[in-house]
Amino acid sequence: MKKGKKLYEGKAKVIYSTNTKGLAIQYFKDDATAFNNQKKSKIEGKGVLNNRISEYILENLAQIGIKTHLVKRLNMREQIIKLAEIIPIEFVIRNIASGSLTKRLGIVEGTVLKEPLIEYCLKDDKLGDPLISEEHILAFDWATKREVEKIKKMILRINDFMVGMFRGVGIKLVDFKLEFGRLKVNDKNDIILADEISPDTCRLWDSITEKKLDKDRFRKNLGGLIPAYTEVAKRLGILHETSGLNNSNVTSLSSFKRKNKK
Ligand code: TMP
Repeated sequence: MKKGKKLYEGKAKVIYSTNTKGLAIQYFKDDATAFNNQKKSKIEGKGVLNNRISEYILENLAQIGIKTHLVKRLNMREQIIKLAEIIPIEFVIRNIASGSLTKRLGIVEGTVLKEPLIEYCLKDDKLGDPLISEEHILAFDWATKREVEKIKKMILRINDFMVGMFRGVGIKLVDFKLEFGRLKVNDKNDIILADEISPDTCRLWDSITEKKLDKDRFRKNLGGLIPAYTEVAKRLGILHETSGLNNSNVTSLSSFKRKNKK
């Protein structure tokens, strides 16, 4: 497969065409942004960790029957994906109140929600990804009623699975963001999970200490983003402790890089 031209560049990833019909390459950058691009930085190694963590989560979701765009990871920063028509909505799922929900509605940070809460934001950087209702989605044809119903079912299954997966490794899944796309299969549109699932797109707290292991370390200037993402990868069993070596995160990341070099 040959990598072609850049099709789309987002804040943290680039999509390239390929010479295989229907397939693209998703490249994970080290760029970190927050507050709709107002805060920007490059954090060396972030893209490598997100590529690997997202691959792990999407592969596990595929095993429970969730259709995703992931075909396979190519190398440290790239994955082959099915090129879907992205639905222009960010689907946010919350289990515990944090972030914009606490600000918008005055809910105390850390409040456990009675049930998972799904919120919709229009994917439009110029407008600052505004919160919208399901009625807006239908009124402006961003998705059909059937698509929204199907996506909501998928979201609840994904959330159930991910809450359990993270709980098993001592992490609370506070909230996360998903994107979905339409894919034509035999002339029929199917809905598949797209984009990425990583500590950039989730809030992850240590179950006991509630230490933040996600992009809030960058948003809130807490530092230690790479050690936190590395910790998530290690707990998921993606990065292995290197016996005999000083167990610093830099060591783990560079041994991961060596192992995964093409
Ligand atoms: P929020 O509390 O800022 O609305 O974020 C909710 C969740 O969605 C959180 O896990 C971070 C994730 N998210 C993204 O992945 N991309 C975004 O652009 C935003 C605003 C949030």
